[in-house]
Amino acid sequence: MLPDLIRRYSAPVPRYTSYPTAPQFSPTIGPRVYETWLRALPAGSNLSLYLHFPFCHQLCWYCGCNTKAIRRYEPVEAYVAALLREIAHVSELAGPHHRVTHVHWGGGSPNILAPEDIARVGAALQKAFNLAPDAEYAVEIDPRTLSDEQVAAFAAIGVNRVSLGVQDFDEQVQQAINRIQSFEDTKRAVDMFRAHGVRSINLDFVYGLPHQTRKSVQKTILKALALDPDRIAIFGYAHLPSRLKHQRLIEDKALPGIMERFGQSRRLHRILLAAGYKAVGLDHYAKPSDKLADEEVRRNFQGYTTDASDALIGLGASAIGHLPQGYVQNATAAGIYQAMVEGGRLPTVKGIKLSADDRVRAAVIERLMCGFDLSKSALRDEFGADAEAVIADAELLIEADQDGLVKPTEDGFEVTDFGKPFVRTICAAFDAYLGQSKAQHALAV
Ligand SMILES: C[S@@+](CC[C@H](N)C(=O)[O-])C[C@H]1O[C@@H](n2cnc3c(N)ncnc32)[C@H](O)[C@@H]1O
Ligand code: SF4
Repeated sequence: MLPDLIRRYSAPVPRYTSYPTAPQFSPTIGPRVYETWLRALPAGSNLSLYLHFPFCHQLCWYCGCNTKAIRRYEPVEAYVAALLREIAHVSELAGPHHRVTHVHWGGGSPNILAPEDIARVGAALQKAFNLAPDAEYAVEIDPRTLSDEQVAAFAAIGVNRVSLGVQDFDEQVQQAINRIQSFEDTKRAVDMFRAHGVRSINLDFVYGLPHQTRKSVQKTILKALALDPDRIAIFGYAHLPSRLKHQRLIEDKALPGIMERFGQSRRLHRILLAAGYKAVGLDHYAKPSDKLADEEVRRNFQGYTTDASDALIGLGASAIGHLPQGYVQNATAAGIYQAMVEGGRLPTVKGIKLSADDRVRAAVIERLMCGFDLSKSALRDEFGADAEAVIADAELLIEADQDGLVKPTEDGFEVTDFGKPFVRTICAAFDAYLGQSKAQHALAV
């Protein structure tokens, strides 16, 4: 592939875990609006819950998540108390006539919680919401600080899917990112969850980190395959040191360039396909036996999922909710979040109400990110006349594409194999807000 093309299409763009993207959220959407949206949830809705835990034992220097390193347990206790209060408040407003089909605890590191607190939060969810017996219950885990008691507590509350952070097994890379984690740490965590009956295990890796080479990431992924994970997520390192101070501790000159990054991502892709994994969307891989490989895939803030619920309720600091009317986001700082909850308020600080145009563009972007195609007739069927402006953008894109990113079909276009790694750049062509946004984004590959 030609280097100048790779450079051209690797420009920084959003990750499109939502549309409109979070930088478009505004403070005009606050607790009062969210309350009316919660009360208006149609009876019988399928709900998805996301709980955020913004704490870790130590800060990894590459980290782009909303988290903080803590040494004492008191901040976690205070946070759990606020979370329990928010769970009760939100469930009361949403009413009892819904079914929760997906639960996801993310962070930070949810295994910052002591086993008693894991049980307490799990019981609060059971009490407040109507959890479906076959609900998918997922938790993000830092394998370095995981105890058997925590694993038992997660299994006891119904966790059936875990995602373990690894990033890289190479020692030089681990030192440069301030994350020392032996292969044995990871294997121990995998074995513990399997021993407790958790069947779906995902491992997270990152390419584009300091000192990584194609050869080193290949070594890492081959080691990972020995653990037989059900899913693997491979993220490109998002380096935004002007926004995230701790990333300044990563030496710029140790970072691979755009061409090397691209080479790493393609090498990992080829190895995983050869090992029998199915590529799902941009950066996920699933064993054929995993439901991510054969069910319809959706895009949400956790990446790729089979979650098809009608609304997502976000709980905890910085958590984002997605209701039929639009998006809402809680206060990012744990202190502000806690103060709002303790004052008896919903901790919503911003959001966006979706316009008719937003809905069409959101559907196009999600479809491109998950299925790599666009169908004009499907858009017209779903959105009627509102689809026309977006279809006109699709026609412009097909006409302007000199490099074979997309291939016209009778009813629209599909993204080519050449275009797939740059699908976020293709989505950006449908983003009506991009010109107005001063937000920083990560490289597309
Ligand atoms: C909440 S963490 C996973 C659980 C746990 N905190 C851990 O790290 O083991 C979410 C994942 O996001 C990815 N990630 C974090 N910062 C990133 C960045 N700057 N660029 C790309 N991926 C990143 C990592 O793969 C990480 O495992
Ligand atoms: S990558 Fe995970 S463990 Fe590391 S600081 Fe971020 S959230 Fe915490």
